[in-house]
Amino acid sequence: MALTEKDLNSLEGIDFDNIVKYQKLLEDLQGNILKGHGRNHSVHLFIKFKPEKVAEAKKWIQEFADKSVTSALLQAKEALQYREKSIKGSVFANFFLSVKGYEYLEVPRFKIPGSQPFRYGMKNESVKNYLGDPPVDEWDHGLQQEIHALILLADDDVVDLHLKVDEISQKLQTVADIVQRENGFILKNIVGQAIEHFGFADGISQPLFVKREIEKARINSGSFDKWDPRAPLNLVLAKDPNGKTEDSYGSYLVYRKLEQNVKGFRDDQRKLAQTLGIKDELAGALVVGRFTDGTPVVDSDSPKGTTQTNNFNYDEDPQEFGLTPKPTKCPFHAHIRKTNPRGDTGRVESSPDFQQSLDIEKKHRIARRAISYGENDITKEPETGSGLLFLCFQADPENQFNFIQGGWANQKNFVAVNVGLDPVIGQPAPGGTQKWPQTWGAPDTQEVEFSFELWVKMKGGEYFFTPSLSYLKNISA
Ligand code: HEM
Repeated sequence: MALTEKDLNSLEGIDFDNIVKYQKLLEDLQGNILKGHGRNHSVHLFIKFKPEKVAEAKKWIQEFADKSVTSALLQAKEALQYREKSIKGSVFANFFLSVKGYEYLEVPRFKIPGSQPFRYGMKNESVKNYLGDPPVDEWDHGLQQEIHALILLADDDVVDLHLKVDEISQKLQTVADIVQRENGFILKNIVGQAIEHFGFADGISQPLFVKREIEKARINSGSFDKWDPRAPLNLVLAKDPNGKTEDSYGSYLVYRKLEQNVKGFRDDQRKLAQTLGIKDELAGALVVGRFTDGTPVVDSDSPKGTTQTNNFNYDEDPQEFGLTPKPTKCPFHAHIRKTNPRGDTGRVESSPDFQQSLDIEKKHRIARRAISYGENDITKEPETGSGLLFLCFQADPENQFNFIQGGWANQKNFVAVNVGLDPVIGQPAPGGTQKWPQTWGAPDTQEVEFSFELWVKMKGGEYFFTPSLSYLKNISA
């Protein structure tokens, strides 16, 4: 029997160790969507099929799907084998198609996934304006090209991974050109936490779909009384219009190459600390919303170690919400507060129905699957050439990634008047100033106006759909 509305809305979490009910879904769904693949290294190949090779391209995709693409079911099985018998999984693989890819493959219009930004593509003028992206001629050369598909390969062993990439690139030659290649790796700090280039622990707060991850989070956080990370499947799954089974689902993938100027960021962080008369580490926490070790700044004015709790909200910061609320612990514009306000939309406007506002906010969540690129020596402070390969899955990019970036992070008046942009990813409206003075303060400090430069630069990207395996395996039929 097909999955019902109720199944897709349930917060129960899929039990990856006992998948009976979800077997059909997981067999036909690609891995990495419901749970990150977890490998330390990955390679992303952006491809453009050669003119007039449609039949050959379809054959290639079919064979690649048959032999290499990892289903969610295989991902779950391999994870279990690894835990129980320490048996290492195979090289992980995903295959994604852009709207140009569907068009190249001559898929009829009504069978192309329908999300509007996906159909427009990331180079589209109105999409770029909404997201605040730079002109396409400033993107990496390869990403300026027409992109049909993306192949993601990942493994813990870099040698095995590169051998697989070589093998695939070789076979691809007759049907497609690789227009851009990205090498990603999990950057770690000295205590082994996964971090991004500015030095902050990343990937802590995620919507969770899998029982085991939910249980782990419950143990880590102690309870879900302040923040419940569980999410229904329909937050990330979208029906695949070309799927061959009643449980054929896919997901939209948003891909953005985000270059980080680490030296610039750290210089501004130090200046902010001096201006406020606080430690550098607290200034950084005001910018991100967490200390480098993950401690939420709303909970503590110093890092508490690597506890990485996610059970917190902004109920008491400020104590009084209303027309001109002023938080004293975590600024409204801090990156994690802008991108997940944890109920602020209901609190600030003193909404008569707080729960309803929170439920709406939670529908904007995304499953982040980012990985770093560039410099891997964390003692260096690169200005260019390093950053985050930002990937996220969702059921509806317009209401999820686009909304977070364009409707929240880029808006100086979200979540209250003159709050300012998200200092990590916010982009002013095209033609706007490159800096936006924001009000900063910490407990026991005077409020000051201080502008953070924009230290994250978008170098290109695209919207993709993650087709079901039953489509890819029958694409030549
Ligand atoms: C180079 C760019 C970026 C950097 C350095 C960065 C850094 C971080 C860090 C350090 C965290 C805290 C760790 C965690 O809670 O998991 C975080 C959380 C988060 N980021 Fe980013 N991020 C970047 C880009 C983005 C983009 C483009 C978006 C979406 C538009 C985004 C959305 C989020 C969300 C939703 C959270 C979780 C917030 C929460 O649930 O509390 N980030 N990011």
